[in-house]
Amino acid sequence: MKVLGIETSCDEAGVALIDGSGVLLAQGLASHAELCVPHGGVFPEVIAREHARILPGLVKQTLKDFSWQDVDVIAVTSGPGLVSSLLVGCAFARGLSRSLQCPLYGINHLQAHVLVASMENDVRYPFLALLISGGHTTLYLVKNPVTFLPIGSTNDDAVGEAFDKVARMLGFPYPGGVHIERVSKQGQPCIDFPKPMIYHDNLDFSFSGLKASVARYLEKNTLTEELKAHVACSFQESVASIFAAKITKALEQYPEAKSVVMTGGVAANQRLREAVRSVLPGNLPLFCPKPRLCTDNGVMIAWAARELYSYGALQKNYDVVANPNMRL
Ligand code: KG4
Ligand code: ZN
Repeated sequence: MKVLGIETSCDEAGVALIDGSGVLLAQGLASHAELCVPHGGVFPEVIAREHARILPGLVKQTLKDFSWQDVDVIAVTSGPGLVSSLLVGCAFARGLSRSLQCPLYGINHLQAHVLVASMENDVRYPFLALLISGGHTTLYLVKNPVTFLPIGSTNDDAVGEAFDKVARMLGFPYPGGVHIERVSKQGQPCIDFPKPMIYHDNLDFSFSGLKASVARYLEKNTLTEELKAHVACSFQESVASIFAAKITKALEQYPEAKSVVMTGGVAANQRLREAVRSVLPGNLPLFCPKPRLCTDNGVMIAWAARELYSYGALQKNYDVVANPNMRL
């Protein structure tokens, strides 16, 4: 069984073909982030038009060494995400499934971010998953491929949003997380930014106060290249401490967890991984997808479909409907 995965929930169009044993046969990715740079952040209409323009060519190019008959199943992100982007992906996938006469499955983007961690690792259930991206910051106790218990989440900004906004204050283009990580290497964590909710007796997060405090600091200080690096590094360290503390607390509350998974675009950050790894007790493993599978991609959609199929939980649905507020 070969699964074609299609992802268009935000500003990346991802396509991938995997076979029934989970081997990745082909993948393609196009980012429209550059088109958003003049707008300073995600610009839904521009992105949706670009998805519509490039998707047929991206699929064709990805499948260049295969024939259409090789595709047995199509899986597409049906939510959550930007409604205009989801509509393009779902409409395209519906058309393709009808013309190829193959079943179509709608996949939850968040579930796919988490499940893809098992593509290269032996991840046993139950495990803790820290899903950190541009739109989400949630901790789950994952009991099986379909049972995700949310045990903590952000009260305001997603952590990726905070990375992007701080990056913008420092003069970096969108998406800014990768620039923060890069310049942090030249800086020291010498500025004492707050670590919101770190001592709260729950597993929730808050990042808007941290972001605001970076903004206030920058209003009072002249931005040099050296200061940029210190601000980036200090901000990143605050986030690292928060994640390390909340994972410690989560493991106290859920000792049954057999591992911790960090996933989503922000989990591409090596310093954040290291901070979480450093607080794991004994030989409890930390599993993170490789960076290009942390940020949005088509592989995770195809992989999730395969995982759900193996678990007997894939629901065939020719009328896959875009659901921007889909929950896990
Ligand atoms: O998962 P993703 O590609 O899209 C969403 O589903 O939101 O995550 C995108 C987010 C952006 O906020 C981006 O700045 C952040 O992931 N990001 C990073 C890094 N790479 C991407 N944040 C921190 N460090 C990174 N290396
Ligand atoms: Zn994502």
